[in-house]
Amino acid sequence: MQTLVLPLTPDPAPAVARAAALLRAGETAAFPTETVYGLGANGLNTEAVEKIFAAKGRPADNPLILHISKTEEIFPLVSEFPEKARLLAEAFWPGPLTLVLPKSSAVPDIVTAGLSTVAVRCPGDAAARALIEKCGFPVAAPSANASGRPSPTSAAHVLADLNGKIPLILDGGECEGGLESTVLALAPSPTLLRPGLVTREMLEGVLNEPVAVHEAVLAEAVGEAPSPGMKHAHYAPSCLVYVVSGDTYAEMAAKILSRCDEFTRNGRACTIFATEQTQDFYLYRNYVIMGDRNIPRSICARLFELLRGAEGAGFDVIFIEAVKAEGEGLAFMNRALRSAGFKFI
Ligand code: TXA
Ligand code: MG
Repeated sequence: MQTLVLPLTPDPAPAVARAAALLRAGETAAFPTETVYGLGANGLNTEAVEKIFAAKGRPADNPLILHISKTEEIFPLVSEFPEKARLLAEAFWPGPLTLVLPKSSAVPDIVTAGLSTVAVRCPGDAAARALIEKCGFPVAAPSANASGRPSPTSAAHVLADLNGKIPLILDGGECEGGLESTVLALAPSPTLLRPGLVTREMLEGVLNEPVAVHEAVLAEAVGEAPSPGMKHAHYAPSCLVYVVSGDTYAEMAAKILSRCDEFTRNGRACTIFATEQTQDFYLYRNYVIMGDRNIPRSICARLFELLRGAEGAGFDVIFIEAVKAEGEGLAFMNRALRSAGFKFI
């Protein structure tokens, strides 16, 4: 199969129309959102959704998110829409929040991997919403990477993973968020299954009650995971990845440098994902600056791109500096730890 890449600029309409025609015909198409690129198909059509699983090599027990273009489109998809969901949708949609709610019989089992709940979100990106609206059905869309790889934040990343496996990629440039949406379960009580740029603190502010963080967010899942995505290997480049912490910047840098030297002596090429605050420790080493620790959003935005970049540049080992696991930093640490297979020093 030829994979066509169509730009969304200067006029998104023709490219969006082309993607909508493919999705209506039961095919797949990749498109940008404000978080990461998604690989879409008709979320009410089992055969179409099967093509997503096939292209990504995604395990069948990992359910998909249904994307809608406005809040009211959720009603046919869920059997309950509690007051808390209404408050959250009002506050954060369109935007990077996914709500897990009891599903209706309209949602095929393949989408939910047989679960009794369905994950739904209304993306913040205008072209994504225009595409969904033109389709006239909810669009099932996981991140448009090959299963297990870092999520794509540019059309080039999608092409690198899925060239020849999907018919179309809409190119909207780089995604602003850089990490996938926050996934929140509401029952029995609000619980963060995947942290994102809609933070725990923001959710608590709207719900006026505590939001729990599922234990698998910062630790390796044991036993039954409520969000099946938690138990699969994720975001992993082909390099060895470590997340490194310290009580002070100097202590963290010292840990990184000693391990870096050891690997280097053994002939392995190392790189360090540093921050503006810590870059001076790494003079004469291979390092990149993820962003500013005081603006965790800036660090989130570049993580996946830098993981792919380090791998492409041929590094064997990546050391990622830890940040405080609060606010957007919780989402960063969740993805960094998963990409490291939870190797935390
Ligand atoms: O930002 C995003 O959410 C992107 C863009 C494309 O919208 N999509 C995305 O989809 O990240 P995906 O499939 O890569 O991640 C969906 C996550 C998985 O961890 C999955 O296990 C979880 O949502 N999920 C889906 N349905 C669920 C359900 N019914 N209950 C619990 N978790 C669910
Ligand atoms: Mg994904």
